[in-house]
Amino acid sequence: IPNPQSPIPNIQGFIFDLDGVLTDTAEVHYLAWKKLADEEGIPFNREANEALRGVSRRASLMLIIGDRTYSEVQIQEMMERKNRYYVELIQNMTPKDLLPGAIALLDELRQAGIKIGIGSASKNARTVLERLGIVDKVDAIADGYSVQEPKPAPDLFLYAAKQLGIKPEQSVVVEDATAGIDAALAAGMWAVGLGPVARVGAAHVVLPSLAGIKWADLRDQLISASHSQTH
Ligand code: BG6
Ligand code: MG
Repeated sequence: IPNPQSPIPNIQGFIFDLDGVLTDTAEVHYLAWKKLADEEGIPFNREANEALRGVSRRASLMLIIGDRTYSEVQIQEMMERKNRYYVELIQNMTPKDLLPGAIALLDELRQAGIKIGIGSASKNARTVLERLGIVDKVDAIADGYSVQEPKPAPDLFLYAAKQLGIKPEQSVVVEDATAGIDAALAAGMWAVGLGPVARVGAAHVVLPSLAGIKWADLRDQLISASHSQTH
């Protein structure tokens, strides 16, 4: 029975987060932050790193330094130093670092005529996409240079949709971080969360990963989600 309050979503484009969705750079970010933290004598471990998932470079540093006081000059220097370590490490990335299912879904969506964008907080997104060999598979890139307000603000995803020439309600965001799901919902977009419900449970559809995911199945799940709520 058609419900006028929840029309079948007319999906025209997908906006993929990069880190944790198409490739797992969380470990690489961790190694770079860990080196910096060790040099500064600040305790930091993999568990603490989990709280940095999807969090901007500056906000990540703030979480690491906690209530220690540093000048703005020192903060800038530490952000640059961490980034040098990160940039060095991502030179080793190859297409083998794509997460399972990523290429298959990108190719299937393209064949279905669906536009593909990247919505990543990272200023290194372009380099990572190049190392992964998927620059020519995307129609637009919104990255750490595109907007001022970081996720959970909707700005980055709205920017990506604009680049793709589609409306928010025609867009599906794929995200692994709580801040990213919140940003997608704030933008009025469909949200697919990858990972534990505790982290991405607010999304319309929650999946363990992209492995084995077919566009037809995902579309069905989005349609079911649209029936169980007003979007
Ligand atoms: C996000 C990552 O995609 O980008 C975060 O999940 C990272 O871990 C943020 O801090 C900013 O990235 P960068 O490369 O500009 O420091
Ligand atoms: Mg992410």
